[in-house]
Amino acid sequence: MDKIKIDISHEESLKQKKIMDELSKQIKAKGLKYHVSTFGCQMNAHDSEKLKGILEEIGYEATDNEKDADFVIYNTCCVRENAELKVYGRLGALKNNKKHKPNMLIALCGCMMQQDTVIKEIKRAYKHVDILFGTHNLYKLAELIQTRLETGKMVIDIWENYKEIVEDLPSIRKFKFKASVNVMFGCNNFCTYCIVPYVRGRERSRKPQDIINEIQGLVDDGVKEITLLGQNVNSYGKNLEQPISFARLIQEIEKIDGLEKIRFMTSHPKDLSDELIEVIGKSKKLCSHIHLPFQSGSTRILKKMNRKYTKESYLELVKKIKEVRPDAALTTDIIVGFPGETEEDFLETLDVVKQVEFDNAFTFLYSIRTGTPAATMEDQVPENVAKERFNRLLDVLNDIVNKKSLEKVGGIYNVLVEHINKQDENLVSGRLGSNHLVHFKGSKDLIGKIVPVKIIESKVYYLIGEQVERKEVTNEK
Ligand code: 5AD
Ligand code: SF4
Repeated sequence: MDKIKIDISHEESLKQKKIMDELSKQIKAKGLKYHVSTFGCQMNAHDSEKLKGILEEIGYEATDNEKDADFVIYNTCCVRENAELKVYGRLGALKNNKKHKPNMLIALCGCMMQQDTVIKEIKRAYKHVDILFGTHNLYKLAELIQTRLETGKMVIDIWENYKEIVEDLPSIRKFKFKASVNVMFGCNNFCTYCIVPYVRGRERSRKPQDIINEIQGLVDDGVKEITLLGQNVNSYGKNLEQPISFARLIQEIEKIDGLEKIRFMTSHPKDLSDELIEVIGKSKKLCSHIHLPFQSGSTRILKKMNRKYTKESYLELVKKIKEVRPDAALTTDIIVGFPGETEEDFLETLDVVKQVEFDNAFTFLYSIRTGTPAATMEDQVPENVAKERFNRLLDVLNDIVNKKSLEKVGGIYNVLVEHINKQDENLVSGRLGSNHLVHFKGSKDLIGKIVPVKIIESKVYYLIGEQVERKEVTNEK
């Protein structure tokens, strides 16, 4: 059974490579340019690297300016309404560009496209779009472009489910020295507010050997840090024919020589096992940063959200992590204004924020997503109430983020240098293991290197530092 799966996806990837070759003969000579816009999460950002890889293989060249592009693609997100409105707004504007450039192609892909209502709306009001595809078949981009060029008609290819995981896609990475790697796709959790399980499908894990081979290839290519990606990495491997835990996978990945730092996201608190906590404690390569969304501090609301943990069990989990890794930076996601949320429930959320002292948090106003159970719940919270709570949450968070950031001052940390600072070219910017951003004096030859940096000042959402000798590093990870 397993063997057949591998053969199918291998065959599919050979087919796509052949199409890319054929297309490149026409496209390269014309000097055509592409521009990819990514909406949403890291998963989408990573998918966009694959889209770019395919487009370059076909012979398109990258441009930073959408207006210059002959091929424009939006990799969309639908997790909140705002993300969708942005896409519609940008699409409207593209209509004009296309009038001046009739041969330009416009493609839409990603989570939004997995919803029937969106496809209907695009067919009705955005006829200037050329190609629509979803989250399960982005590897087919070359084939879809070929079909569009041959037929001259709008091409729509949306799959309800994935068929197979196609390995070996080309990819254009943003950084030479760090990369993301999918360990799994989809989500089985059905949190009642969330559209992701409907648009990304059920959980399926990649085989450990495929993941390790990919990482080995990246390391051979100069990558020092990898981020393992999945909607719920803690349930990695459960559905494989030979099940393996996420904790074991990390231990296997750690053995790769030359790989220096490992990160992962996102963790669901209900699945974060003692085995993983033990690995977090003893790992030499895992960075000291855990992203652990808690969404709400009220056990009553958590139940309505179908999160399957309580306020107390979340706090207990945090305690366990801090016991094995006192330096661990914690970040989280919080939703304000979930249906039925009362002032008391909200105060529980503030209480968790104060008790845990997160290093940072992504905060969201609850957004109704049609088709999810929460969309039809009674007691939707009025917008003004939710906004008022949201602002109070931001005030509390600001003080805590500030405090945590100040705690870094005086410490010496290993920093992976990412780029020249955008405002001041005498500075370089990089990240601590805790994921705090730091700027310090340096030149471009530091990019991609891991250097010891003493933190001298906190500016709340970033730090100022200075490079020092590799002596007394406060935190290796
Ligand atoms: N409204 C607001 N925030 C949401 N998220 C997911 N769905 C919704 C929604 N309907 C947030 C959650 C999740 C993050 C990626 O997005 O906090 O962890
Ligand atoms: Fe959405 Fe919940 Fe799955 Fe995260 S775990 S993707 S919030 S359903």
